[in-house]
Amino acid sequence: MTSSNFEINDDILDFVIKKAYGIKGLVDRSLEIIPNQCIQPKEHRLDKSQIDNQESIPTIDLSNFYDLNVEKSIQEAAAKWGCFQIINHGIPIEVLEDLKDAAHKFFELPAEEKVMYCKDNYSAGESVLMFWSAIGEKNEKVLEWRDSVKHGCNPQNDSNLWPPQTRYQVLEYQKWVKPLAKKLLEVLLKGLNVNEIDESLEPLLMGTMNINMNYYPPCPNPSITMGARPHCDGSCITLLFQDDTGGLYIRGTKGDNWIHVNPIKGALAVNIGDLLQIMSNDRYKSIEHCVAVDSSRARISAPLFVNASLDSVIGPFPQMLKDGEKPVYKHILHSDYWDYFYRKRPSGKASLDFIKI
Ligand code: OGA
Ligand code: NI
Repeated sequence: MTSSNFEINDDILDFVIKKAYGIKGLVDRSLEIIPNQCIQPKEHRLDKSQIDNQESIPTIDLSNFYDLNVEKSIQEAAAKWGCFQIINHGIPIEVLEDLKDAAHKFFELPAEEKVMYCKDNYSAGESVLMFWSAIGEKNEKVLEWRDSVKHGCNPQNDSNLWPPQTRYQVLEYQKWVKPLAKKLLEVLLKGLNVNEIDESLEPLLMGTMNINMNYYPPCPNPSITMGARPHCDGSCITLLFQDDTGGLYIRGTKGDNWIHVNPIKGALAVNIGDLLQIMSNDRYKSIEHCVAVDSSRARISAPLFVNASLDSVIGPFPQMLKDGEKPVYKHILHSDYWDYFYRKRPSGKASLDFIKI
């Protein structure tokens, strides 16, 4: 084959990952048969019969952020669903629209222009990285139906290394979204009797941040692929912008049902990640979620992952344990958790078992 053609029997990991054609590259070649390496095992697919249209997550209006009722709804949603949407959060709609347009521009570039952002290893500290999740618990190499790029948003990261198609839009977005993330964390911590994010807590709660962009190309057979397999985020919290395509599902309160996170124009979805479940000693839920792909539309999403710094020690807050409550989790170095998480890519809720007592 020439470098720009793809036959179904060729090395798909080389084509998609190393040469940076991406999943989009497969779709552009009008592939009608899904390559084996993109077919998810049944246990990682979304079982449509479990989609529950009766249950939905709350949409919280942040116009009066520090109103006690608003604070309470945030804390309750984090405890009950581990997920909620926010509106009137203060980020101008143009900033979100620009972010979406930038993602389209980037992922629609020819592979030759994207390949420089691909690295061999997923590491925590990169300023920019295009990556694919092809690793699973049993080391099966099944690719998710998405192309992703990560922008490291930390002081040591150099935004000049970000793609010119996304740089200014991500910089602008992070100016708005970082203080919003901090305010949300403050409210969530208040619900745990931890009263402020001072200098000692800042590295633990928001020591590393990155903004990813995901491009989920349309898929000729969405029932056997997944945009993102069921997983929990390894973050403290994740703030997610999504376009109006839909496809994000989270676990409902019945345990095996899935609820759709309906796209709302201008809203962000917020979910609790493993770290905050650990720190809150299970008060807040790190929610399992997944993304199903559409058969005709490409979907864009942009999560901000708010994480502990790698050298922090994670574990339940002392405030959680002071009345004799038993810790559910050990205290360990965040870098050990991170290594486990990205080496194993645990599915579902398995990620938390690693640190359980
Ligand atoms: C993720 C994720 C959801 C989405 O990137 O961890 O869950 O809607 N993304 O893209
Ligand atoms: Ni996620």
